[in-house]
Amino acid sequence: MQTQKILNTDLNPTRIIYGCMNLGNNRNRAELSESEMKREAVKTINAALEQGINMFDHADIYGRGKSEEMFSEIWKEHPGLRDKIILQSKCGIRFTGDPTPDAPHRFDFSYEHIKNSVDEILKRLKTEYLDILLLHRPDPLVEPEEVAKAFDELHQIGKVKYFGVSNHTGFQIDLLKKFVDQPLVVNQLEINLIHSDLINAGVITNQRKPVEFIRGEGTLEYCRLHDITIQAWSPLAVGAFENINDDFSKNLSTVILEIAKNKNVSVEAVIAAWLLKHPAKIQPVIGTRRPEKIKAICQADSLELSRYEWYKLFIAGRGEDLP
Ligand SMILES: NC(=O)c1ccc[n+]([C@@H]2O[C@H](COP(=O)([O-])OP(=O)(O)OC[C@H]3O[C@@H](n4cnc5c(N)ncnc54)[C@H](OP(=O)(O)O)[C@@H]3O)[C@@H](O)[C@H]2O)c1
Repeated sequence: MQTQKILNTDLNPTRIIYGCMNLGNNRNRAELSESEMKREAVKTINAALEQGINMFDHADIYGRGKSEEMFSEIWKEHPGLRDKIILQSKCGIRFTGDPTPDAPHRFDFSYEHIKNSVDEILKRLKTEYLDILLLHRPDPLVEPEEVAKAFDELHQIGKVKYFGVSNHTGFQIDLLKKFVDQPLVVNQLEINLIHSDLINAGVITNQRKPVEFIRGEGTLEYCRLHDITIQAWSPLAVGAFENINDDFSKNLSTVILEIAKNKNVSVEAVIAAWLLKHPAKIQPVIGTRRPEKIKAICQADSLELSRYEWYKLFIAGRGEDLP
């Protein structure tokens, strides 16, 4: 699989990243026991490695820590793997009940929380270091000085090589950068054919219609201007394109299918190639646990969509023509 350097780092990840949120997670599927989930996790990671994927995305909250624990099973099978792959995790979201029953769901970019989270992440992943640590969702109570202190210390003691953010706007990144000296090299955002708002925001500038307020206008342009690599979470829209129960989905699935047939590739590859075509060099962070779907998506690496095809998909995903 082709690789692309993360600017301002020595990291050279594959264009497609495997996201580990669904490892150790029984959501939307038959109950699996702990040992069945472990076996499934190893099989899934092996399937990603077989496709050449060399970067894996985590967060401390995935499966409440279970996803990272499940991932660490892979070291038994591949003892020399750690330095050949790029491991990224995130912190900053805290669930209700953490650490006491009355604690609300919240975001926490405090110095203590960032430092403690990384220690716990490293323990669960059974690794000495993270290649990248992301701040998961913007914390309205953020004190950039505290983030700067935590990042500097983590970098100095070799626990984290590089840093980034997730779900942040340009202004929120600028606020962090007022004090954070470590380069912020990644912004992970929700972008897919059905949720194309961040791309759409640039298209509908100065339009009265549609009237919805697009949050995050200018985020993609900001990242391109500042050499921040964009990663797309839920790039397959969690399989939503398969639920064909209204005119919008019927039309979208017809457009996807037509292109897939013409190019002799899977529909999943067309959906992922739509992201790869974007000049921001967006990296899809894929989350399926099915090896055959991982393979189907990875066909996107050798699939070049034309401008004509890209726009046909964009319009079908927007659900209406361009202004
Ligand atoms: N930064 C953030 O705020 C944030 C938020 C969410 C996710 N993420 C990251 O993004 C990664 C991917 O998220 P995601 O799982 O929502 O992304 P996705 O790749 O869009 O969706 C994968 C999910 O859709 C299901 N699915 C149904 N039909 C599918 C098909 N034809 N092809 C592929 N998948 C299909 C999969 O189930 P099966 O496993 O049964 O195939 C799986 O649950 C996560 O693992 C995580 O690393 C980040």
